[in-house]
Amino acid sequence: MWRTTAPRAEALFEAGQYRVRRLSEEDAPRIRALGERCLDHLELHYGSPPDPGQMIRDLLTDLPPGKTLGDKFGMGVFDGAERLVGAIDVIRDYPEPREWYLGLLVLEPGQRNQGLGARLLEALTHWLLRRDAAYLRLAVSEHNAPGLRFWKRSGFRPVKQVLAEFGNKTSLFHVMRRELEVR
Ligand SMILES: CC(C)(COP(=O)(O)OP(=O)(O)OC[C@H]1O[C@@H](n2cnc3c(N)ncnc32)[C@H](O)[C@@H]1OP(=O)(O)O)[C@@H](O)C(=O)NCCC(=O)NCCS
Repeated sequence: MWRTTAPRAEALFEAGQYRVRRLSEEDAPRIRALGERCLDHLELHYGSPPDPGQMIRDLLTDLPPGKTLGDKFGMGVFDGAERLVGAIDVIRDYPEPREWYLGLLVLEPGQRNQGLGARLLEALTHWLLRRDAAYLRLAVSEHNAPGLRFWKRSGFRPVKQVLAEFGNKTSLFHVMRRELEVR
């Protein structure tokens, strides 16, 4: 039979039945649908009303200063039925060489609190180590108590606090980082 759709990108890594693949423009409609299911997360960071389209920008286009799309890895977490249930965004060598920046790790609400985030972080760590990364950095909002607990438990330590504005919301962010090692 002739193939009628573009071949799917290969999995970058896996966590149990979940596969993580690089996202592209073609995925925009389902990234938006994921944003619709994660309005809590968007509102916490960007304020009200939350825009599900922000999830597309977070994963496909938004970049920190001085970086290019070649440094950006917007990834989708797909379940065994090929449903997009979460997303990860990492930036290579930011802010320093061999230090990667985790801009986003989000799961739709029904997938949270079952250990999936921890398993994905472990699989991501292995993937980063294969790319010669030494540290992983992130920023977590002061309003995100469960997120802060998750990162502390995962071995991230505070670096500094910064006040930052996203959308129409200004929040204090805890910048944290972890040395990458097989745990
Ligand atoms: C942060 C996030 C990625 C963590 O992923 P997760 O899969 O929910 O994380 P885990 O399941 O490993 O841990 C979360 C909690 O579930 C608990 N848990 C883990 N496995 C469990 C299980 N089988 N049964 C019951 N509870 C469980 C953990 O102990 C932890 O408890 P805590 O709230 O007291 O810390 C996810 O919750 C999420 O997408 N949140 C919204 C977006 C967000 O805040 N992202 C981070 C921005 S910086």
